[in-house]
Order: sequence, then C-alpha cells, then structure tokens
Amino acid sequence: MRHEWSSQLTFILAAVGSAVGLGNIWKFPYITGEYGGGVFILAYLFCICLIGLPIMLAEISLGRRGKQSPVNTMLQLSQEAGANPAWSLLGWSGMVAGCLILSYYSVIAGEVMAYSFRASSGMFNHQTADGIKGIYTSLVSDPEKLLAWHTIFMSLTVLSVAKGVRGGLEKTVTFLMPALLVLLIILVLYARTTGGFEQAIDFMFTPDTDKFFYARNDLGNYLMDANGDKIFTWEPMMVAMGHAFFTLSLGMGAIMMYGSYLNRHVSIGKMTLIIVSLDTLVALLAGLAIFPLVFANGLNPAAGPGLIFETLPLAFGNMTDGALIGTFFFVLLFFAALSSAISLIEPSVAWLIESKGLRRIKATVWVGTVVWFIGIGTIFSFSGTTLQDIFQPLFSWVGFEHIELSQTFSKYNFFTAIDFFTASIMLPIGGLLIAVFAGWVMHQDSTEREFSFRSRHVYPVWQFMVRYVSPFLVLMVFLNIIGIFKF
Ligand code: PHE
Repeated sequence: MRHEWSSQLTFILAAVGSAVGLGNIWKFPYITGEYGGGVFILAYLFCICLIGLPIMLAEISLGRRGKQSPVNTMLQLSQEAGANPAWSLLGWSGMVAGCLILSYYSVIAGEVMAYSFRASSGMFNHQTADGIKGIYTSLVSDPEKLLAWHTIFMSLTVLSVAKGVRGGLEKTVTFLMPALLVLLIILVLYARTTGGFEQAIDFMFTPDTDKFFYARNDLGNYLMDANGDKIFTWEPMMVAMGHAFFTLSLGMGAIMMYGSYLNRHVSIGKMTLIIVSLDTLVALLAGLAIFPLVFANGLNPAAGPGLIFETLPLAFGNMTDGALIGTFFFVLLFFAALSSAISLIEPSVAWLIESKGLRRIKATVWVGTVVWFIGIGTIFSFSGTTLQDIFQPLFSWVGFEHIELSQTFSKYNFFTAIDFFTASIMLPIGGLLIAVFAGWVMHQDSTEREFSFRSRHVYPVWQFMVRYVSPFLVLMVFLNIIGIFKF
C-alpha cells in the first residue's frame, strides 16, 4: 500500500522542510539586495498572499486527490474532469524544473557544507571584511573543490530519497527546523548590536520605487536611454513573483507530491497558512540578520549570490563562541537545504517508480546522476564562464562566428540563466496552470470535497482567488514583460 504521513504534524514539517531552505536564507537576502530592498520585499509579500497562498492550497488538494506523482496525478484528474490529458505536461515541466533547480541548489548547498567546516576550524576568527571575502573567492574560483562538495551533497540527497519519504525526512525535520529558527533569532539579536540595524530596517522596509522599477548596471548606476531618461524594467517584479513561487516550492509539483502522501481527513487550510507564515518569517529573519552586517561593515547589499558567505562569517568571527554558533548555523542550513532538495527530486523519482517500474534506489540514482551533470555548468559559472563563452565556440563551430549573444543574454551565465528561467518563468507558468486547472477545469464538487474547510466562508474566497486573482496577476506580469501591453 502507498504510505501516508504518520500525522498532520509530519506533513506540516515536511512541507516546511521543502519550503524553508536556501531560498529563504541564501537567495532572499541577495535578491532583495540586488533589487534595492523595500519595494522588492513589498512586491514579494504581495505575491505570497495573493498568488502563493491560494496556489499552495490548490497544489496540495490536487496532489491529495490524485495520490500519485504529478504527471500521473494530472493525467488522472484531467480524465476525471473530462479534460484534455495534455494537462499532464504540467507534471513534466515540473520534473524538468525540479531537476534544473536542484542542479544549482546542490552546488550552493555544497558551499554551505564547506562553510560548516571553515566555521568549525576557526577560520573566520577576527577576520576583516576583505579577509572573509577572500575566503569565499578562493572557494568559488576552485572548480575542483566545488565539484567535490556538489558530489557529496548530491550523494546525500540520493541516499535520503532512496530511503523513502517516511524514513529519511520526518525525523530530520522535526528537530532541525525549530533549531534553525532559534539560531536565526540569536543572529538577529547579535545584528542589533552591530550599529547597522537601523540602516538595515530602513533598507528593507522603506519603499524606494526608483531602485525597483528602473534598470541599473552592475555598479548600481541607473541606465539611461537616448533622451537621458531612466529605463523602466519589469524584471524585478518578475523576480519577486518568481521568488514567491520558489520559496514556497510551488509551480513544479513538489508540494503536489507531498499532498499526495496526505491523509484524507486533514483540513488543509490551516496547514497552508502555517507553512506560508513560517516560510516568510524565516526569510525576513534572515534579512534582519544579514543586512545590519552589510551596512555596519560598509559592504555592498547587491553583492550577489555570495552575500551570506561574505557577511555572516564576519559575525561568527567576532562574537563569543562564534566558531560553535557558526558551525551550528551552517550545519542547520545544510539540513534545511537537504530537506528542500529531497522535494525537488521526489516528483521525478516517484514517476519513474510508478510508470517505469524502477526500484526506488535505481530511480533515485538515475535522476541524481543527470542532475549532477547539469550542476557542472553552475560550477563553471562561479569561476567566471559566461553564456557567451559557451555559445561562441558553438556558433563558430557551425560557421556563424559573427553572431553574438544579444545584450540581454550576454549578462547571464549558466547559473543565472537557469535560475531565471526556472524561478521566474517555469514556476509561475506552472502555478498559473495549476490555478486554472483547480479553479476552472476540475468539477466544483471535487475541489469542495478535497478542501473540507472548517469554515464555509473559506472555499468561495479561495475559489475566487484561484479563478480570477492569482492567474490574472501572473498573466499581467508576463504580458508586460513580452510588451503586449503596458500600464
Ligand atoms: N523552497 C525551497 C527554498 O526556498 C526551494 C524549492 C523550490 C524546493 C521548488 C522545492 C521546489 O529553498
């Protein structure tokens, strides 16, 4: 028989385990920094409430009704609703997105593992900001080291997934999530003593629309058009929306998968609220721990993916018992990343088991190996290889050496391209389709039964959101990007 979560609490813990991860602690602060703070956070919170919440409810209930991997769940539910079986493409794109995301997620998680050893060795003690930056640069510019850590992390992910959902996940998450929360609070309290706290609050919560809506270059200066006017851009809005999906693990079937292991009798409304609130709380705490250090040490908030690795070690190097607290922090962050990684790979593994009859171990090793290979692209991005470097030889090979990547694309490397393509495009489109399917395609009595809301008022609100509000907002952002209309 197919297993289920042993209790409602373990489902919450597993879903929080999936949601809380590098997205909250590594990615949220650095993208907030890159897109100028206040308005970005507002846009992100807006998307969490109006898009993330309703779509999470939809995804959990689809999963619970289908009781299979996302591909087969979508096949079955479309059949049940008399709709086109092509809806299962949603499951396919989810599997692809999951593998692509995991390919770079694992490289960053590898950096986190490396940092737990660096913290425990006392390497950060009394370092200057420059010294800490040097430690980071020497790690990321060494492809062999990154590859070794990436390999270790992928092996651990494969091991945990091969053991099955119940075996690996439930126990790990029960203890580690609360511990991570406590540690973050300690770091925020420390950050209050650094002198940069007020500036950080100002940066995070005072809206500055210019920084959000107008394009800037790497140095933070505004780009100008021929008339000397600033250039309007939707990219930050797209990243904020994409991050709402990413941080809640939505739009690619991870939460649908976890919903499929959920028992019929639990009410999902309250659970969703808990998952979303905890995830948001962790992200905001991470920001409050990191930005004070940025300002107190005169660092650049837009430092990019290295931000946590260049700031937090400064705190660990200067506080009492910093080596111990730092080690603890990176170890916990590693576990948070592992519990997210498991949910990124699980839809593909479950599909291989169900549809191709593979044993769990074999399925996991296959997917893990493919993901491992893709991850190598990210490793080279960190040592400076750009998309241009990858495409130029290809273009010359086929005899088109005069072709160059356009300006928009040449700023990307393999890692940033995959990140943008998955988080800002694939996940929102996946989420949009999930909302449309749950709101318009499924029969109302099926969704109503799935919800089993305690309060009768919640269902119509959810239905309205998932039918009109969430898809409309996602569509608006996309239509603006491709320039079909402007407002
Ligand atoms: N939500 C995870 C994080 O914030 C990442 C993730 C994305 C996990 C999509 C599963 C699916 O780190």
